[in-house]
Amino acid sequence: MSRIAYVNGRYVPHADAAVHIEDRGYQFSDGVYEVCEVYDGHLVDETRHMKRLNRSLGELRIREPMPLKALGHVLRETVRRNRVRNGLVYIQVTRGVSRRDHPFPGDHVAPAVVVTARSIDRRKSEASAEKGIKVITVPENRWPRVDIKAVALLPNVLARQQAEDAGANEAWFVDTDGMVTEGSATNAWIVDQEGRLITRAADAGILRGITRSVVIDLCEREGIELIERPFTVEEAHRAREAFVTSATKSVMPVVQIDDAVIGNGEPGSIATNLRSLFHGQAELA
Ligand code: PDD
Repeated sequence: MSRIAYVNGRYVPHADAAVHIEDRGYQFSDGVYEVCEVYDGHLVDETRHMKRLNRSLGELRIREPMPLKALGHVLRETVRRNRVRNGLVYIQVTRGVSRRDHPFPGDHVAPAVVVTARSIDRRKSEASAEKGIKVITVPENRWPRVDIKAVALLPNVLARQQAEDAGANEAWFVDTDGMVTEGSATNAWIVDQEGRLITRAADAGILRGITRSVVIDLCEREGIELIERPFTVEEAHRAREAFVTSATKSVMPVVQIDDAVIGNGEPGSIATNLRSLFHGQAELA
């Protein structure tokens, strides 16, 4: 089946979908994005993703390209046209097309919107969750505004490739105080020897992950103790469990961090439990 993309008001064959060479996203990475999971045909946590998109746009002073309700319709239509039951939908909004010049173009330039959707084989994700993933740690080298979900992801791309080159699946950034911030495309969590969850507070240094926020709600519901504070690499190496969260990975157990095997080298029970409960807590629309 051929894929379909939404580009600036039109649904077009994915193979032909294109933006102008002077799109400011292409020229300057001047844009923001969201990734929403599609689970059994439902959009997962659409409300929170749309709210964060709106915030990212506001922080960069990019106009809302269309009312969020209309954007919700485009997301659903893109998912439907691509027959995605399990996978993801990607939304990108840039400041639009204008002659290359650093200052913002005038108000006559409309933001550009692209939406794509693709299927992910759930059996593969489950197989990787049953095994657990490996993480390496790398120095934090991103700008301080990582709370904005900007398309400028070069440090994240390089960190992730470094992980791949090391035979791992994710890289955790470590700040100059030796504290883990987050993964290249995930939020980072550990479970200490007392069974308490620890994850960095969302006030600085990390993206305010939507999956993270749902897991926090889940901990409250299940009475799991959670401490929001930074943790060191050493603490992570000694953790009873570790895991990452993101829209595409849900709750994904981590079984190795650098050379340290976590727990007994198998996914921990808390992470596994949170993974199985996640979609019961998330908003499915
Ligand atoms: N990444 N931190 C970073 C740097 C991320 O890029 C992401 C998401 C997260 C987790 O956020 P959420 O739970 O809202 O997905 C944390 C997406 C999936 C991506 O870039 O593909």
